[in-house]
Amino acid sequence: MTTESLQETEEQLVLAFLEDGVDDFTSGEALSNKLGLSRAEIWRHVESLRAKGYRIEAVPARGYRLLEAPDRITPLEITPHLNTRDIGRRIHYREVVRSTNELAFRLASEGAGHGEVVIAEEQTEGKGRRGRSWISPRGLNLYFSVILRPELAPPRAPELTLVAAVAGVEALRALGAAAEIKWPNDLVIGERKVGGILTELSSDPDRIHFAILGMGVNLNGSPSQSSPELAGRATCVAEATGKTVRRAHFAVDLWLRLESWLDLHAEEGFSRVRDAWRESCATLRNKVSVETGTQPIVGIAEDIDESGALLLRTEDGGLQRIFAGDVEYIRPWAKQQ
Ligand code: BTN
Repeated sequence: MTTESLQETEEQLVLAFLEDGVDDFTSGEALSNKLGLSRAEIWRHVESLRAKGYRIEAVPARGYRLLEAPDRITPLEITPHLNTRDIGRRIHYREVVRSTNELAFRLASEGAGHGEVVIAEEQTEGKGRRGRSWISPRGLNLYFSVILRPELAPPRAPELTLVAAVAGVEALRALGAAAEIKWPNDLVIGERKVGGILTELSSDPDRIHFAILGMGVNLNGSPSQSSPELAGRATCVAEATGKTVRRAHFAVDLWLRLESWLDLHAEEGFSRVRDAWRESCATLRNKVSVETGTQPIVGIAEDIDESGALLLRTEDGGLQRIFAGDVEYIRPWAKQQ
């Protein structure tokens, strides 16, 4: 272990002990006995935590007490709580990045392994689907990309995005948000977008080298606050539930769910994922117009097929299979039974 990573591990342990103490003081002696560190070393870690925004009270003869923890997303906040096997076991944290997908793609091209995650406080060129940008203000939301090296034929890669949508909707619901999926992979609350997924691939015709699964989830800041044209179209969890979200907690929960669904997908194929996706999907049974880059196609969203394509019953009674596009609901808002 390098000196730097030893320091990080020790600091994580000191923090974990203080977190366990909740409102109580933990004596310096107890900390130093438990962790096998000198009192001076404990003090140095406490000072380092303070410099990162942790408010730690130190009272002679009583010890240390954690008063407030900042909402940070570095390995210090994530790693001690993470129960995954692969996802996030190695974290590349950046304060600012152009796009976590872009950096993850580069790292994967250079050999980074399955499950490694790039996470950032802010993206200056966050990428959305279909060439759009993803508004990524600093310190409020979650922007990350996971490197995956799946044993999957390249034509099945879009399934990974649907797997992530199922995990994302579950994690949002666990926060009390009434989240649903809008085809293909928008996470929405009501009609407003709260999260999105962008999967990018490096592959040969017969083999995926790696996939970059990028997710953006608006937790504490809605892009509509900085971009008036998104008013009424975007939201964040805090706005929907009235509660701010600790981003590291959400990441830990989401990554575990993501890993479980990816495992299920790898073991049993797409059908269980498809069932879960259908159950959480707000699009099905609605009359919609789908923008595919050419003429919008109007019809009732009937189902998704075994590859995740949308099956649209058009007005002439035909069934169109749509692989990519943007869905608009057609008023009046009424689900067809
Ligand atoms: C969409 O258009 O709905 C997909 C948005 C995906 C945004 C995320 S944020 C983290 C990752 N890095 C990016 O540049 N994009 C994805």
